[in-house]
Amino acid sequence: MERSLGFLLLLIGTLAIIHIVQAQSQQGFILLDCGLPANEVSPYKESFTGLQYSSDATFIQSGKTGSVQPNLESRFLKPYQTLRYFPEGRRNCYNLKVEKGRKHLIMTRFVYGNYDGRDISPKFDLFLGPNPWATIDLYRLENGTRREILHIPTSSSLQICLVKTGETTPMISALEIRPMGNDSYNTKSGSLALFNRVYLSNSSSFLRFPDDIYDRQWNAYFRNAWTPISTTRDVGNSIGYDLPKIALTSAAMPTNASAPLTIEWSSDNPEDQYYLYEHFAEIQDLQANDTREFNILLNGDRLYGPLIPSKATTILSVSPLTCNGGKCSLELIRTSRSTLPPILNAFEVYKVIQFPQSVTNENEVAAVKTIEATYGLSRINWQGDPCVPLELMWDGLNCSITDISTPPRITTLILSSSGLTGTIAAAIQNLTQLEKLDLSNNNLTGELPEFLGSIKSLLFINISGNNLNGSIPQSLLRKDLLLLYQGNPRLGPLGSPTKPHKTKLLVPIVASVASAAILIVVLVLFLVFRKKKPSTVEVVHPPPSRPTMNVTYANSPEPSIEMKKRRFTYSEVMKMTNNFERVVGEGGFGVVCHGTVNGSEQVDVKLLSQSSTQGYKEFKAEVDLLLRVHHKNLVGLVGYCDEKEHLALIYEFVPNGELRQHLLGKGGRSVVNWGIRLRIAVEAALGLEYLHIGCTPPMVHRDVKTTNILLDEHYKAKLADFGLSRSFPVGGESHVSTVVAGTPGYLDPEYY
Ligand SMILES: *[C@@H]1O[C@H](CO)[C@@H](O)[C@H](O)[C@H]1NC(C)=O
Ligand SMILES: *[C@@H]1O[C@H](CO)[C@@H](O)[C@H](O)[C@H]1NC(C)=O
Ligand SMILES: *[C@@H]1O[C@H](CO)[C@@H](O)[C@H](O)[C@H]1NC(C)=O
Ligand SMILES: *[C@@H]1O[C@H](CO)[C@@H](O)[C@H](O)[C@H]1NC(C)=O
Ligand SMILES: *[C@@H]1O[C@H](CO)[C@@H](O)[C@H](O)[C@H]1NC(C)=O
Ligand SMILES: *[C@@H]1O[C@H](CO)[C@@H](O)[C@H](O)[C@H]1NC(C)=O
Ligand SMILES: *[C@@H]1O[C@H](CO)[C@@H](O)[C@H](O)[C@H]1NC(C)=O
Ligand SMILES: *[C@@H]1O[C@H](CO)[C@@H](O)[C@H](O)[C@H]1NC(C)=O
Ligand SMILES: *[C@@H]1O[C@H](CO)[C@@H](O)[C@H](O)[C@H]1NC(C)=O
Ligand SMILES: *[C@@H]1O[C@H](CO)[C@@H](O)[C@H](O)[C@H]1NC(C)=O
Repeated sequence: MERSLGFLLLLIGTLAIIHIVQAQSQQGFILLDCGLPANEVSPYKESFTGLQYSSDATFIQSGKTGSVQPNLESRFLKPYQTLRYFPEGRRNCYNLKVEKGRKHLIMTRFVYGNYDGRDISPKFDLFLGPNPWATIDLYRLENGTRREILHIPTSSSLQICLVKTGETTPMISALEIRPMGNDSYNTKSGSLALFNRVYLSNSSSFLRFPDDIYDRQWNAYFRNAWTPISTTRDVGNSIGYDLPKIALTSAAMPTNASAPLTIEWSSDNPEDQYYLYEHFAEIQDLQANDTREFNILLNGDRLYGPLIPSKATTILSVSPLTCNGGKCSLELIRTSRSTLPPILNAFEVYKVIQFPQSVTNENEVAAVKTIEATYGLSRINWQGDPCVPLELMWDGLNCSITDISTPPRITTLILSSSGLTGTIAAAIQNLTQLEKLDLSNNNLTGELPEFLGSIKSLLFINISGNNLNGSIPQSLLRKDLLLLYQGNPRLGPLGSPTKPHKTKLLVPIVASVASAAILIVVLVLFLVFRKKKPSTVEVVHPPPSRPTMNVTYANSPEPSIEMKKRRFTYSEVMKMTNNFERVVGEGGFGVVCHGTVNGSEQVDVKLLSQSSTQGYKEFKAEVDLLLRVHHKNLVGLVGYCDEKEHLALIYEFVPNGELRQHLLGKGGRSVVNWGIRLRIAVEAALGLEYLHIGCTPPMVHRDVKTTNILLDEHYKAKLADFGLSRSFPVGGESHVSTVVAGTPGYLDPEYY
């Protein structure tokens, strides 16, 4: 068989006899006349098939329109007279909505027609989403070419891309997509690329819609050694394959009745895998003493048989076939008892084509497109799949691409200096694996949204040089997140609303000192009025200590060497508490046991119950923080344990226990005198001040109450439970949350 015989080659404008029947269903067909000028009617009825073709303008944002040279217009009928070409950008893509999981016939057609008058045949690549589909080389193909596949999209958005690979400009004439039935052309793996589809007839017509309900194109094919036969009888149809009636009512058989019917083809690549579909129907009236029976062989191996064709039948490959040396020979050989030669009505050859690369996570593609639309971005490179193939990744993105079968995820979004206006796009929250976000140097307004804090993977945000206002949400003050926000004059740090400040750094310090002073007043009043009758109270101000601390929210680069040193195994924790022998208290998060480290140092071990809502990551972050906190008025953390689900915090032992007992004279404790009470108030305030000013990032105690102020052997106050309460998430809410660990009325006033 001559390979040029119309395979992958479009023969347009020959004196083809097209059978036009009343238009049938064409539901779901997407038929695009690429480059149809805006002033022409769209959709229009194509003259041969009666199908409705539309302009491609709404399916692609880039490219220019052209049309074949006027002297060729008579040869190419619509929709092949016009085309879209792509002088800009490496990859340009059509975006089409399809039914995910359903088989589709996807066809692309290319007719150069010297549209640019330069007479240089284009050569470029065709991609289906992130996967290469074909190389289109129009050299010497003056009548154009087409590529066709049977494919099941894995996503509801299908992208067909033209990728520039050399000097020439990619172009396309028509793009056609047709949904198919499910129960035909099934493969073990991969999709099917059309190699050849013919019906055996000595006519010169080809068949399309409406003869073929799916608008498959069937070329007539015939050889000299054959005799044509045809019938006007109804021969039925092949279930699932729905052949054109004409293809089934005509057939060929070898003129020499004892010779086989042979079809041959070859391929440059001997590794090519094929699926074959042979369609048969008996169309002769057999005598009672006649038998037609034959075997089907490929390169001498029997594929199927013996077959007695009667009603329409399709013989198909259930697994891919290969041909030795790349030369394929399909033979139909009559059996010895057959009185008639074999016949064949139609057949199809497809090559297996794999599209293994997964498309980027659908939600994230939708999100990034929403972002693009929100800001009215138009980047020539933002077409096709955002992440893959790697060399065509969108500018300003980076992705995690693990393996070919895992959908890539977007990890970086850089839209700095992009002229963005409006607020920070809500769609960013759908990039759930984002690590780096750079929106710096734009004109963004409004507040820094809370949702950014819910993207747990974020490590870096640069929103410098915008016009944002309000305060920074608590959820963005994570230790492992670097937030840069210089150059937003109306954006203030935690808890300090939009007053203009001279220097940003001073604000948290001033605020903290002020609040520490307020706290002292509150505490003193509290301690004084707790038990006794009111009396005049002198408020003692703390020494105005102002450590020159750089209050930024940077993640500290040095790894926690300390952490390793102070990490205990669960068995060590069991040993130090003598199997949790002495339970000394119980809190919202679990029990507290007494224990000893190294045989002498006394400790309190706080076991975090598994029902606690605290996530492991928060626990780790918390431990890291607490290990860096050192102050004489804070209970020191000796170590911690995080072995699988066992989480425990080990604190220094504070012998005189809770202040509460000493105020009420309960639990065998003595009632402390006024001098000591006042000193305890000041010491507790100093501990709080250290949390607010001395820590990076600052910490907020949310539970300042007398049971959380512990007294050492000299009745020196030590704050406990700091920080831990802060990191208990309550329903994802990072504003004031007092339900789990905090106690209403015991919150830092600035935080409240
Ligand atoms: C293109 O089609 C014309 C008829 O329209 C035919 O004469 C010519 O041979 C074809 N060219 C090729 C390369 O097949
Ligand atoms: C195709 O098959 C899938 C699963 O077998 C089914 O969900 C889908 O509805 C089918 N589509 C059609 C058009 O029959
Ligand atoms: C096809 O074959 C039939 C029967 O042999 C013959 O009558 C007819 O002229 C042929 N048609 C063409 C186009 O060759
Ligand atoms: C017919 O085919 C048979 C088997 O291929 C062959 O032996 C015979 O010579 C052929 N006859 C003619 C007349 O070609
Ligand atoms: C079959 O029967 C017909 C008469 O009905 C006869 O002409 C023909 O030769 C027979 N064919 C064979 C192969 O016996
Ligand atoms: C993208 O991420 C990979 C690793 O995730 C990194 O090696 C690469 O340098 C990043 N590319 C850009 C442009 O940031
Ligand atoms: C985020 O994704 C969900 C699920 O696809 C969608 O319903 C929602 O509208 C998206 N949110 C934004 C802001 O785009
Ligand atoms: C953050 O953005 C600002 C403004 O574009 C820029 O000057 C600065 O270098 C950026 N910082 C980092 C760490 O990228
Ligand atoms: C922000 O907008 C103003 C005018 O509204 C413009 O002058 C300025 O250049 C813009 N800044 C950036 C960074 O785009
Ligand atoms: C931030 O600015 C917007 C207008 O750009 C305004 O509507 C909003 O109230 C401001 N928010 C705060 C906290 O000042």
